[in-house]
Amino acid sequence: MGETKTGQTNQEWLDEVYDKLLLKMKAECDRLGTLIPYTPKDGKYADMGSDDSLYGIGNWTNGFWPGMLWQMYEATGDEAYRTAAKGVEDRLAVILEDSDEVNHDLGFLFLPSAVANYRKTGDKDARRRGLLAAHLLAGRYNLQGGFIRAWPDRMGEMAGKIMGAGKADIRGWMIVDCMMNIPLLYWASEETGDPRFKHVAVNHAKTAQQYVTRPDGSCNHIVGFDPDTGEFIHAPGGQGYGEGSSWSRGQSWAVYGFALSYRHTGDVSFLDTAKRCAHYCIANMAVNDWLPLVDYRAPEEPVKYDTTAAMITACGLLEIAEHVTENEKRFYIEAAYRMLRACDEKFCNWVPEEDSIVDGGTYFYNDPTGENTEVPIIYADYYLIEAVLRLKGKDMFIW
Ligand code: GLY
Repeated sequence: MGETKTGQTNQEWLDEVYDKLLLKMKAECDRLGTLIPYTPKDGKYADMGSDDSLYGIGNWTNGFWPGMLWQMYEATGDEAYRTAAKGVEDRLAVILEDSDEVNHDLGFLFLPSAVANYRKTGDKDARRRGLLAAHLLAGRYNLQGGFIRAWPDRMGEMAGKIMGAGKADIRGWMIVDCMMNIPLLYWASEETGDPRFKHVAVNHAKTAQQYVTRPDGSCNHIVGFDPDTGEFIHAPGGQGYGEGSSWSRGQSWAVYGFALSYRHTGDVSFLDTAKRCAHYCIANMAVNDWLPLVDYRAPEEPVKYDTTAAMITACGLLEIAEHVTENEKRFYIEAAYRMLRACDEKFCNWVPEEDSIVDGGTYFYNDPTGENTEVPIIYADYYLIEAVLRLKGKDMFIW
């Protein structure tokens, strides 16, 4: 174990990638500063914060750049990273001014920005922003059914489009991704001593365990309830191939998200769920040279990859590895290395002068334009950095 076709050991690969990461991130930080990146066009990022819409400054991915900067600050102590991260957080603060505009992605936005800042520096404004975000997230809880509502109703059109349908009634929808948002609530309870945030998070995670995960370790992306009665209605297809399929990034949110719910609660059933989902991902990637398809249950052709799923799953496996015996640990760490190394060999760009690291990310399966298929996406870079720094013992805990 621990050696691939390149002949490098895992440790040699890790040390080499870490050195490349230092050069790449230093150059990106100098070049981008507080610009908020998502995907580059012709090798250059544009700023996601140029308007105040949900797809501008409010886009769910806008916390990943400050997250990358905080991770690099933790690893290197270079003040340029801290300054840029704080500048991006100041830009994101506007999101918290309109409770009608927010959705469940407040954890993705504010854990790697404001909460990271507070954890590292004790900044009081950052704490206030993190807690305000937690209040807004908890406010999305639907008592009947016990879940956090994903999106506001007016996003039904967009949701229907992704699913190849008309406007959907999404008032009672929960989605697997939210398993990564609820750590904001665990943090808020730990920080304030107020258990209500944690109660919401645990109830949501229990509902997800029952309705989002399937017995074989695969997951639904979306589950729809009657928002008035809490009655289960359906599990429509989402960003994967279709109903009943297995969207790989959703799988990875489940692996990492349930492992984190175990970390924050000590409920072993969450760790078992994380492991079941992890074993499903590992089996599916192992038969495909450790590269993740966009959907593990799509037709054989066309082949479409999504490297973001590999990066997130790797972090989830490293999280699981922290909570199991030494003999189990090896299995999860080796699987994480294989995913990371396979994607590095095929998809990584380490040229410091060019924006973004990991190519091959896909936003959703049924993409008629192809513009969102196998492209560099910022969160692939974030989770690559988190995984590499975890393996080096230099990471900052974000979730
Ligand atoms: N959270 C949305 C996605 O994973 O695409």
